[in-house]
Amino acid sequence: MEITFPPTFLWGSATAAHQVEGGNVYNDNWVLEHVPGSPFVESSGDACDHYHRYRDDIALLADLGFTLYRFSLEWSRIEPEEGEFSLAQLDHYRRMLATCHEHGLTPMVTFHHFTSPRWLAASGGWEAKDTPEKFARFCERAMAHLGDLMPLACTLNEVNIGPLISARAGAEMGFTRTEPWFEAAARRAGSDASRFTPFLYADAEHGRATILAAHRRAVEAIKAGPGRCEVGLTLAMQDIQAGPGGEEMAARMRRELLNVYLEGARGDDFIGVQTYSRQRFGPDGPLGPEEGVELTQMGYEFWPEALEATIRYASAATGLPVIVTENGVATDDDTRRIAYVERALRGVAACLHDGIDVRGYTYWSALDNFEWSLGYRPTFGLIAVDRRTQERTVKPSAPWLGHIARAQGF
Ligand code: BGC
Repeated sequence: MEITFPPTFLWGSATAAHQVEGGNVYNDNWVLEHVPGSPFVESSGDACDHYHRYRDDIALLADLGFTLYRFSLEWSRIEPEEGEFSLAQLDHYRRMLATCHEHGLTPMVTFHHFTSPRWLAASGGWEAKDTPEKFARFCERAMAHLGDLMPLACTLNEVNIGPLISARAGAEMGFTRTEPWFEAAARRAGSDASRFTPFLYADAEHGRATILAAHRRAVEAIKAGPGRCEVGLTLAMQDIQAGPGGEEMAARMRRELLNVYLEGARGDDFIGVQTYSRQRFGPDGPLGPEEGVELTQMGYEFWPEALEATIRYASAATGLPVIVTENGVATDDDTRRIAYVERALRGVAACLHDGIDVRGYTYWSALDNFEWSLGYRPTFGLIAVDRRTQERTVKPSAPWLGHIARAQGF
């Protein structure tokens, strides 16, 4: 074997509740998906019906050779109205955790992956002062019910996603709160456009304070619960590079999009690195893809080397152990997925070789699923899902990566 990984290295694949569970009128995203003029190209619908099919999906991932499964709790199912907690829904996620353990998969639970209860978003959401307290209360209740089965947790997924989207292409993607469709969505949620604040729409400054405070409060709540859960946050990391004349802008972007959030991870057990590509900046802002570089279905540059660069960056900035909580590529050509992951893993191995404490690699995503505003068009999955029959079809990349997991190398 040319490349080997430590025996304790975890091999995962990931999903997020709304992207695989779909249909849920209690969360804010459902509202965004259903107002006329919305940039969401389609409704999440039944998604992958993972809510009912999780047993088969988890068994399949274990059979393929994976040792970690990262999934998220849907807060709006657990607390559909403020202060009203559903034991039945907590039991559902408890069964998911138990199923992971039965199959020898380490579960990693994300407490918040983009979607929030409608009532929370309506009352100021991710810019409101009291949201950290509300989030901590949810974490505390969930921990009391699930903590003994939860060895690893992420508080919030991609704490920096709001500013990242605005820096990259906010306006073009329709991710602004001043559009008529957004006002309609706010009204539909019983709010108004100045208060209605889903996670992806939080303003850089107000959002950052709320989100980082929510993270800290959540860490305390999770640590106080039963079990010995290791906890961290995840960051959307791009390898930020300077194009011609863009050194100053790139340095500013690293400070604003990465450093302030990496500082917020101080004291955590690990830092969750999520990387898909690089982003170049010129003197005035983001640069498009470089000519001649292959593009993914997301329009990103096919740039698996970004993972190595961002692991090094996150490790140097925080001194924390790193878990790659997401890395992957949207493509309909599975041979390109294999090529991408192989190059990304070579980067992980180089980091390990240099003594960086990388504890695991998680591929995004286990299943082809609901890619937010782009709907079901981009296919990140190791496993395809027939949208009509819900039939799962394993792509060649899945056993390929599972084999690496079993062999701890390639
Ligand atoms: C998110 C996922 C998303 C993936 C691919 C990450 O930003 O955590 O929810 O599907 O990237 O775009």
